[in-house]
Amino acid sequence: MKAIQIPRRGGAFELVERPIPEPSAEQVLLRVEACGVCHGENVAIEGHMPGVQYPRVPGHEVIGIIEKLGPGVSGWKPGQRVGVGWDGGHGQVTGLTVDGGYSEYTVAFADALVTIPDGLGALEAAPLMCAGVTTFTALKHSKARMGDVVAIQGIGGLGHLAIQYARKAGFRTVAVSRGRQKEALARQLGAHEYIDTDTEDAAKALKALGGAKVVIATAPNAKAIQALVGGLAMDGEVVIVAGSGEKMELSPVQLLGRLAVRGWVAEGPHDTDATVRFSVLQNIQPLVEVFPLEKATEAYQRMMKADVRFRAVLKMS
Ligand SMILES: NC(=O)c1ccc[n+]([C@@H]2O[C@H](COP(=O)([O-])OP(=O)(O)OC[C@H]3O[C@@H](n4cnc5c(N)ncnc54)[C@H](OP(=O)(O)O)[C@@H]3O)[C@@H](O)[C@H]2O)c1
Ligand SMILES: [Zn+2]
Repeated sequence: MKAIQIPRRGGAFELVERPIPEPSAEQVLLRVEACGVCHGENVAIEGHMPGVQYPRVPGHEVIGIIEKLGPGVSGWKPGQRVGVGWDGGHGQVTGLTVDGGYSEYTVAFADALVTIPDGLGALEAAPLMCAGVTTFTALKHSKARMGDVVAIQGIGGLGHLAIQYARKAGFRTVAVSRGRQKEALARQLGAHEYIDTDTEDAAKALKALGGAKVVIATAPNAKAIQALVGGLAMDGEVVIVAGSGEKMELSPVQLLGRLAVRGWVAEGPHDTDATVRFSVLQNIQPLVEVFPLEKATEAYQRMMKADVRFRAVLKMS
């Protein structure tokens, strides 16, 4: 089979031929149909998490068809379409501590699988496995209630889904982006308001809307995130889903409006299952740009330049 692997820590993607893996106990073999390209792949490349070994096949937005069951698997059968996200089951992380979906076949632990309903295509389902579940649950567990101002900062893979979830949840939805290039699409996806941080002070603009009850920060840039704290309403919170190692600077007095800044990760297949069901119910679909597996490097580089509209998805032939 063809696969993209990271040969060593810090190494570039390389296309290789590998034997089709055999499912071990409690695993299934998947014929991969599609895999989303998440900004989180930089963790696999940079290896700054315990348990990452190389060579490693990245990819944690995996959709595939079950081809074969390993010993001890019950509740699943060959032919079913399933998905796997960051949580790889059995304490593993997909695409980091075990191989992921940049591959024609992969094995996955059965306790990590979610069912993909008929009618939801593999390309549209893939981004729900990480970008979708992260933003859906971040909003679901936030302080926002119907009618509240909710800002989504960074309109990429996560952000463009967050706009749709926020709109469908009944929030006054504000897209926060750099420049005007994404405005028309952000509004089509459901944003009521649009703030261009290149020309506007985002905190002031949010205050002019009454202040944000919740900001979902997806842009991996500490300065851009800290700049939004001043745009919160009383009791508001910045929920950080972005992964950035940079330091944030906040003075205690900035938080005295009973404000909070906290982080968020989704929990596993039950969260993903809820995300898939809500997305189908509300007809929420990611906008995807499709790349063949061989073009994984181009897909990743374009995503890193915030140039993809809005999620790159690898389609296996
Ligand atoms: N918490 C979790 O569980 C979880 C799960 C998945 C991903 N993540 C993290 O979430 C972040 C977003 O992932 P993604 O896949 O959505 O990435 P993405 O598609 O690249 O989107 C990120 C967006 O952030 C903005 N941005 C990027 N660089 C920026 C910079 N230097 N300054 C200001 N804004 C910048 C861009 O939006 P504009 O062009 O609109 O400004 C970009 O489209 C990453 O850090 C990723 O590692 C976390
Ligand atoms: Zn991810």
